[in-house]
Amino acid sequence: MAQWIAVEPEKWYRMLHPRPVVLVGSCSDNRCSAMAASWIMPVSRSPPMLAVAIAEDRCTYSLIRDSGQFSVMVLPWSRVRELHFLGTVSAYEDPQKLEKSGLSWVEGKRLSVPVCLEALAVAECLVENDVPSGDHRTIIGRVVEMYAKPGIELGDPSTYEVPLHVSGSRYTKPEPNAVRVELG
Ligand SMILES: Cc1cc2nc3c(=O)[nH]c(=O)nc-3n(C[C@H](O)[C@H](O)[C@H](O)COP(=O)(O)O)c2cc1C
Repeated sequence: MAQWIAVEPEKWYRMLHPRPVVLVGSCSDNRCSAMAASWIMPVSRSPPMLAVAIAEDRCTYSLIRDSGQFSVMVLPWSRVRELHFLGTVSAYEDPQKLEKSGLSWVEGKRLSVPVCLEALAVAECLVENDVPSGDHRTIIGRVVEMYAKPGIELGDPSTYEVPLHVSGSRYTKPEPNAVRVELG
């Protein structure tokens, strides 16, 4: 019988880290913000849908709630400092947060959402549902537009070096060599 040791309750979610960290952005009424988010996952292949857990006190949450739309952006590992900045400063404290991030911003192709030009991949989403989930809300979004930089194989760590969030201000990057598992 294996021997287990208790996990501190406040650290339970770390069993699901490290995990990809993205930017989630939104605009409403001429106000915009974008924040780091690592609690994000795909939930439907077709139609394409994703879910992201966002605490209600994030400025980005209020913009998503008011506009019903948001962007999801994957930054390269080389932009992890900018990502961390957007994950530690709130637009409630600094409305110039996007301008100060060191990234370049344009409007989405289809929706009025902030898109940063440095992103490797971008999904523009419409809110399908906003579900209370403990100390966060789970926003379920339908992807209505999606694009990526040329030369990238999405999901392949040799060309798609997505920052992974360990905890706090600690990050790691994926091992570039994917291993194929053969059964039988
Ligand atoms: C690596 C990292 C991942 C984060 N992931 C999430 C997340 O998944 N959900 C969330 O609500 N906040 C998350 N945060 C915190 C927000 O990004 C942070 O509170 C941000 O400053 C909110 O900005 P805003 O108030 O302008 O929306 C994360 C922060 C970091 C640094």
